[in-house]
Amino acid sequence: MASAEENEIIKTLCQHQYGFLISKIMFSACELGVFDLLLESKELLSSAVIAERLGTSHPEMQRLLEACVGLKLLRMERKDNEGLFGNTDLASLCLAKSSPRTQYYFMKFLSDIVYPTSQYLTDAVREGKRQIQSAHATAANDLFGAVYSTEERLQRFSIAMGDAWCLYGQELLSAFDLSCFQVVCDVGGGNGTLAKEYISLYPKATVTIFDLPKVVEGAKKQSVASEECQISFQGGDFFKDPVPEADLYILARTLHDWDDDTCEQLLTKIYKACKPGGGVLVLETVINEDRTGPLVGQIRSIIVMLLTEGKERTESEFNALFNAAGFKEIQSKKGNNYGAILGRK
Ligand SMILES: C[S@@+](CC[C@H](N)C(=O)[O-])C[C@H]1O[C@@H](n2cnc3c(N)ncnc32)[C@H](O)[C@@H]1O
Repeated sequence: MASAEENEIIKTLCQHQYGFLISKIMFSACELGVFDLLLESKELLSSAVIAERLGTSHPEMQRLLEACVGLKLLRMERKDNEGLFGNTDLASLCLAKSSPRTQYYFMKFLSDIVYPTSQYLTDAVREGKRQIQSAHATAANDLFGAVYSTEERLQRFSIAMGDAWCLYGQELLSAFDLSCFQVVCDVGGGNGTLAKEYISLYPKATVTIFDLPKVVEGAKKQSVASEECQISFQGGDFFKDPVPEADLYILARTLHDWDDDTCEQLLTKIYKACKPGGGVLVLETVINEDRTGPLVGQIRSIIVMLLTEGKERTESEFNALFNAAGFKEIQSKKGNNYGAILGRK
């Protein structure tokens, strides 16, 4: 008979072996609209009704729904020997398109881009280079070639990235008192979801989102930011063009796309643009100093390895970049999922 330790080992092994399918089950249920249907429905639904309304095969839908129950994405009650399904709190909060803190579009990005690219993780490690193909890239420095190949894909990427800030934005933006910064520039700010969170915490502030012209064009069409008059957009290349004047520059999940030299170049440029007393706020995954975790950070480090030439960093690695650019009084706070690092000129 296996010992308790062996049983633990086997349990962990089993979880890891099937881990890739856990994500895929969640992605498929999202894509098929299971969580949307159940969010809209005021009652629990049978697998036959769900299959019929979503236009899928019934026995296969039933198995997918049961797997979602196992993953605690759905709950099931039995009535007259039939399973009736409803969303769990997790699904209602995050997995339907209309969920208050939807992660639907980020799931779509993981499913459409990261999942197929992860097929080449072994090659990425063997060859030491990113695996996303840039055949459709329109600019030499366009790292997300396949993502940015069409306007629709680019817009989807921006929306996908924005999803995270509905969950973590408020926590990170309130890690420090930023009320002294009234004029803010979100460098590489995508579709402006983080800017919106900033304004809701600091209502007197204005935020300019500085991003590639193609991204800005798409973002302006989305309601997320355009409805906020305190949010404006400026298209440009943060390596080539001057960055807008601001008291505070935000760099959220932008440094992780680049190697150390390029990050130093960008931070130095921001330092030069910064007024005395101004600051830079970096929001990124922070890896533990001993590099043993957190697991979510180690996984994101794999994602950026597959897609970009960047990496996730430790607090001391961020400090070194800030110091090299000239920033002082560096403070860091770790949140639930990301960290915030503030530096001053
Ligand atoms: C990983 S995304 C992060 C987006 C956003 N800050 C967030 O956290 O959701 C990196 C952003 O940097 C922008 N970016 C990349 N290269 C750029 C450049 N050379 N000039 C301006 N923006 C750039 C991308 O378009 C993208 O919106």
